[in-house]
Amino acid sequence: MDKYSTAVDLARDITPSSPVFCLRPHAATAAARWFVEHFPGKSFYAVKANPSPWLIEALVEGGIRHFDVASIAEVRLIRDVFPDGTLAFMHPVKAPEAITEAYFEHGVRIFSLDSERELEKIMKSTGYAGDLTLCVRMAVSSALSKISLASKFGVNEEVDGELLQKTRQVAERLGVCFHVGSQSMSPTAYAAAMQRTQRAIVKAGVVVDVLDVGGGFPSAYPGMEAPALQTYVNEIATRFEQYLVAENCELWCEPGRALSAESASLIVRVESRKDGVLYINDGTYGALFDAGTLNWTYPMECLTDGRSAKLAAFEFYGPTCDDHDHMKGPYYLPEDIEEGDHIEIGMLGAYGSAMRTGFNGFGAYQEIEVADAPMLTMYGAELPHAANDMTGEMTQ
Ligand SMILES: Cc1ncc(COP(=O)(O)O)c(C=O)c1O
Repeated sequence: MDKYSTAVDLARDITPSSPVFCLRPHAATAAARWFVEHFPGKSFYAVKANPSPWLIEALVEGGIRHFDVASIAEVRLIRDVFPDGTLAFMHPVKAPEAITEAYFEHGVRIFSLDSERELEKIMKSTGYAGDLTLCVRMAVSSALSKISLASKFGVNEEVDGELLQKTRQVAERLGVCFHVGSQSMSPTAYAAAMQRTQRAIVKAGVVVDVLDVGGGFPSAYPGMEAPALQTYVNEIATRFEQYLVAENCELWCEPGRALSAESASLIVRVESRKDGVLYINDGTYGALFDAGTLNWTYPMECLTDGRSAKLAAFEFYGPTCDDHDHMKGPYYLPEDIEEGDHIEIGMLGAYGSAMRTGFNGFGAYQEIEVADAPMLTMYGAELPHAANDMTGEMTQ
């Protein structure tokens, strides 16, 4: 695989006509090392954020050995790329065939659930196995996060005691898990969720072997400056020490975004300009799904030489014929940006390449490794080389 020193060199050399992912495995390895060294428990990488094998390998190099998988395809993928990994099947609603294959063919022993029906399904699909770690997913608030994960899954406070007791009776190890929502902007979210799970455990009178605080750890995006990751870890560690659980309870987390966001950026080409609107060759049906559907913000810069230092606000349309293929921004780029220019969009290692589709015949990307630093980072000194200092609140 070709490797360039910087994304600028890459764009200059190949002037790409289709979108190019700039891969930075070194950034993923650094993020993995940080979690391994700073999180006082086990870190399961949430594969859904980016299932690329090069990324999994980079995380393994940084010390990640545990993986949160949500589908049988993710189970098979990790077994293929890193056969020794420990897998936790943390989707609370699973197909029985997927449970059976995961348990009998891939050695998966950790499953989550948020209903009695799912508990029965897991038991039946594993032949009433006696060696399961079963994690009951609690409903917790997503109020402090940019993306809510509060509605779809999680057992409510009124009924959680009974489910915890029933699960305790059949599980070798009982876990409790939650997700505070993605891109959590405050460590307080974890503290509140831990208090809520503690109430449930006390009410049910069960011994818990695992507390899994889920994902949600933030990455750096313009206008979304979250506290340092260390403050999240400190808050979780402090609360965990005060937790009323058995002494040998394990602490787990499931970061997706925080481990992968910095590991890739995307170079797109401007295909046309109409005043403040740029038509680019990727969009809502591609790696910019969150930009289109959530108005997510990303750092970006124009890679074409000689453009003005004066910035203007732009909105984007992607390549398909669909009106939804619209990213309203505003994105700040040189005021004289033109058709044929290239733009690098940073922080697309999480929920970027994982979201691409082939709609309208688009969806072909090159992937090329680069050695430069990510545009923004949560790990060490801030390295902003993005011209775009975009601010503004997200609309969800
Ligand atoms: C069960 C579970 N764990 C972990 C994650 C990863 O979350 P994040 O990328 O916000 O860290 C998700 C994301 O949807 C999830 O559903």
